[in-house]
Amino acid sequence: MRIGVVGTGYVGLVTGTCFADSGNSVTCLDIDAEKIARLERGKVPIYEPGLEELVTRNAQAGRLRFTTDIATAIRDADVIFLAVGTPPASDGSADLSALWKVVDSIALHLRPDAIVVTKSTVPVGTCAGIEARLRERLGRDCRVASNPEFLKEGAAIEDFQKPDRVVVGVRTANVGETLRSLYAPFLRTENPFLVMSPESSEMTKYVANALLATKISFINEVANLCERMEADIDDVRRGIGHDSRIGFAFLFPGAGYGGSCFPKDVQALAAMARDKGVLPRVLTAVHETNLAQKQVLGEKISGWYGGDLAGKRISIWGLAFKPRTDDIRDAPAIDLIERLLDGGASVRVHDPEAMDNVRALYGDRLAYAATPLDALDGADCLVIVTEWGDYRRPDFDEMALRMRAKLIFDGRNLYAPQEMQSRGFSYHAIGKQPV
Ligand SMILES: NC(=O)c1ccc[n+]([C@@H]2O[C@H](COP(=O)([O-])OP(=O)(O)OC[C@H]3O[C@@H](n4cnc5c(N)ncnc54)[C@H](O)[C@@H]3O)[C@@H](O)[C@H]2O)c1
Repeated sequence: MRIGVVGTGYVGLVTGTCFADSGNSVTCLDIDAEKIARLERGKVPIYEPGLEELVTRNAQAGRLRFTTDIATAIRDADVIFLAVGTPPASDGSADLSALWKVVDSIALHLRPDAIVVTKSTVPVGTCAGIEARLRERLGRDCRVASNPEFLKEGAAIEDFQKPDRVVVGVRTANVGETLRSLYAPFLRTENPFLVMSPESSEMTKYVANALLATKISFINEVANLCERMEADIDDVRRGIGHDSRIGFAFLFPGAGYGGSCFPKDVQALAAMARDKGVLPRVLTAVHETNLAQKQVLGEKISGWYGGDLAGKRISIWGLAFKPRTDDIRDAPAIDLIERLLDGGASVRVHDPEAMDNVRALYGDRLAYAATPLDALDGADCLVIVTEWGDYRRPDFDEMALRMRAKLIFDGRNLYAPQEMQSRGFSYHAIGKQPV
């Protein structure tokens, strides 16, 4: 099939590349000319394991092309995936301005039988809105479908090529069949291809993210309670996780969820509910709990120093909102950095992949360390915000030598408190008694 992908970010680039890898002819479009120029040189502008190799292989095979020219991407395409960003507007609802711009600009170039598919996460009713807008522009009906994306940054290729399920929202069976054949190479393990209405499909994506976010906020609230009740969240987690009705997934306490999806999708679903006169009590609590959780590390640190952070030398390990990505959108590390800088601390940071993105935001207001250990020279304390593998088994003796004080605030519970105590560290994790 000939495929056009509009928006070549985390989702668009992975989608285009994986469809090219299964033999389709794909053209990826973006308005960011620099991004496209880099991709044409074989350089992937984001960090996503395995992606660069796959892009290079498919570009060299002539199946994957990049362009800034809308006509080139659209005029021959059988299926056009829309994968532009849908960030939060000031009231929490999804800002669809980029999407509507794209719909207007592709309209002129669409083949009469082309299928337009929203892969961006869009509010319920957007597919219907696109159908109406294209009808208005073209004076004829266009085939529009919803196909939300469930990939996880850091494991995006694997998730795309071996999805738990594929969800499509369609008005007619033949659009569903075309999309089924496109996904067939990725569904050879009998994982389900679920066909529903565009409205249910759009809703499914928000509900999936909102439920995952709910689990995280729930366990974070319980973890904070454990700290005050002399209980240990890991014991409690094990105690509940073996119950098959509960399970272990997404029940790890931490420094709050971030990234470009959970925070905005929870808020957008709440905005949709309010719009329909439904009070989103759970969603509101999930969001507010998360905002508070992103402050927990800062509060612990500030509490330790009696509220005076001025002149403290604080090191941070982990800036990306999660491991194996360079994405810092809504990352808990950003909230922490703001608080530490506001308090007058000097902050030195390390992250295996996200340092350039943080440098672009903070420039020389932060110090940047080439290695985790280099981040610790003369530090008054270390704060762990992202659970990169690099930080799981560090050289604690070398850390102790480099740090001014053996003090760790761990937002990801990487170490055993007893071991840290025996090594002479003061160790403060989430949902555990400090040692
Ligand atoms: N990142 C994820 O893990 C993830 C997972 C599932 C779903 N989603 C959803 O997918 C969508 C895209 O997310 P993302 O993380 O890939 O965003 P992104 O910001 O990485 O990429 C969006 C791209 O669209 C481009 N763009 C904007 N306007 C354009 C236009 N008019 N024409 C062409 N290109 C244009 C931007 O330059 C950018 O490269 C969002 O709705 C998001 O909620 C994201």
